[in-house]
Amino acid sequence: MLEASLLKHLTLAVMRGQCRASQDPHRPGWHLAPCVGLLNDPNGFIYHAGYYHLFYQWNPLDCRHGSKFWGHWCSTDLVHWEHQPVALVPSEAYESHGCYSGSAVIADDLITLIYTGNVKYPDGSRTAFQCLAQENPRGEFDKLGPVLSLPTGYTGHVRDPKVWQHHGQWYMVLGAQDLQLQGKVLLLRSDNLREWHNLGEIAGSHLGGLGPFGYMWECPDLFRLAEQDVLIFCPQGIAAESERYRNTFQAGYLLGQLDYANASYSHQDFHELDAGFEFYAPQTTVAADGRRLLFGWMGIPDDDEFYQPTVAYGWIHTMTCPRELSMQGNQLIQQPARELTALRREYRQWQGPAQEAPYLPINSAEMIIDVNAPFSLELGHTLHLAWDGERITLSRNNLRTGLREFRYWRGQLHQLQLLCDRCSIEIFINQGEAVMTSSYFPPDLPRAIFSGSAELHLQHWLLSSPMLE
Ligand code: FRU
Repeated sequence: MLEASLLKHLTLAVMRGQCRASQDPHRPGWHLAPCVGLLNDPNGFIYHAGYYHLFYQWNPLDCRHGSKFWGHWCSTDLVHWEHQPVALVPSEAYESHGCYSGSAVIADDLITLIYTGNVKYPDGSRTAFQCLAQENPRGEFDKLGPVLSLPTGYTGHVRDPKVWQHHGQWYMVLGAQDLQLQGKVLLLRSDNLREWHNLGEIAGSHLGGLGPFGYMWECPDLFRLAEQDVLIFCPQGIAAESERYRNTFQAGYLLGQLDYANASYSHQDFHELDAGFEFYAPQTTVAADGRRLLFGWMGIPDDDEFYQPTVAYGWIHTMTCPRELSMQGNQLIQQPARELTALRREYRQWQGPAQEAPYLPINSAEMIIDVNAPFSLELGHTLHLAWDGERITLSRNNLRTGLREFRYWRGQLHQLQLLCDRCSIEIFINQGEAVMTSSYFPPDLPRAIFSGSAELHLQHWLLSSPMLE
C-alpha cells in the first residue's frame, strides 16, 4: 500500500516538475541528472549482458535529502542512457527512512542489489539493515528483505554495502561508526548472499597507522587494480588543511594488500581522489573489457548544496562523467572513459601565447591544454584557475556566503583536459594524475578566457548532448 502511495506521489512530482526542470539553462547536456528532485550517490553500478546499469540515490519528491529511492538507468556505451523502472521505493518498515546506498552483483544470472534499509526513530537514533532485491523479468526489483542487522559494537551508522566475488565466495565491505564514534570499514563473507559472517574491521580511524581519521566512513569500495587492493571510502570529520581536505567531507583511497584468510588489510597513506569543490561517494565496476570504471556524485552533503540555482527549477546534482582507473607506479590515475570521445564535434586547435587565445565556448565542450609555464584561465566568469609554476589554484565565490573559496593541486603541470557541461567542469591534470571536479553555474554562453604569456597548445571540441530517453 505504502509503495503504491509513494509511487503516486513520485508520478505527480515528475508530472509537475519535469517541464520546469527541462527549462533550466544549467540542465546538463551530457551528464546524468535526476529528471526532478535530488540525486546523490551512484549505486549498483554494474555491467551485465551487454548493458551498463547505473542506479542512483534519488529523492524525487524534493530537492532535499529525505527518504531515498533508487532510480535506474542503463546504457550500452556509457554515453546514451535510458530510464528504467524505479528500482527501489522506501516502502517497508526496514527501510522506512530510505533505501540507502549499495551495490549490485550478478547471482544466478540476475542483477541482485544489496542496499541499506535506513530506519530513524523519533528520539533521533537510528538503525540500519542490509537488504537484498533481485531483478525480475519485467525489469523491476523484487525485495528479498534484510539479510543483516546492526553488528554489535557499532552505532546505527552502518551502511553502503559493496559486494564482490572472490574465489567462489561473496565479500562485502560496509561503512561503519563504532561506539567510540570512530569511522571504520568492516569486511564480511557469505556463501549465498543471505547469511553473512562479520570478519572484522579492515581499516578505520585509529587503525593501520592512520591515527584519528573521522567519525564515520561512508561508501567503501574495494577492488584489485594492477598489483594493489584499492580501498575507496568517504571519511567524515577530517580537519581541513591548508591545501587539502578542504571540502566538508572527503572522498579518497588507500592502496594496500588485503589478506582474505586473515581478514586484514595493510595499507599506505590516504589520498584524496579529487581536489575540486564537489566530488563524493564514488563507486566502481568492471567494464566488459576489464577496465575499472568509476562514477562519482558531483556534490557534497553539506549546507551549501541547497544554494545551487537549479533548486529553483526543482532538481539538484549530477553524476560525474564516467572515468576509467589505472595505476601508474603507486599512483591511481583517473581519466575520462574513452567512450566519451563519441561526444566530440567540431574540432579546432590553436597555438600561441595564452593572452592571445580565442575566447572558446565551454557551454558543452572539451579542451585539452598543453602548457609548461604559468598562466590563468577564467571559466564562464565563475570559476578561476591559475597555474603559478608550483600549484594550481581553483577559486570561486561560495554560493551561500559569497566569499571567495579555494582548492589546490601541487605538482608540475604539463596538460589539462577540461570536460565542461552547463553546470560542471571536470579538470583532469597531466592525463589523470589528479582531478578537480566542480559544479558551477555560469551565465549564458560561458567562455574560457586565458591570460599570461605562456605558450599554449589548445585543442577544443564542442560536445553533443545525447538524449536521456
Ligand atoms: C553518502 C550517503 C551514504 C548513504 C546515502 C544516503 O552521500 O550519506 O552514506 O547511504 O548517502 O542518501
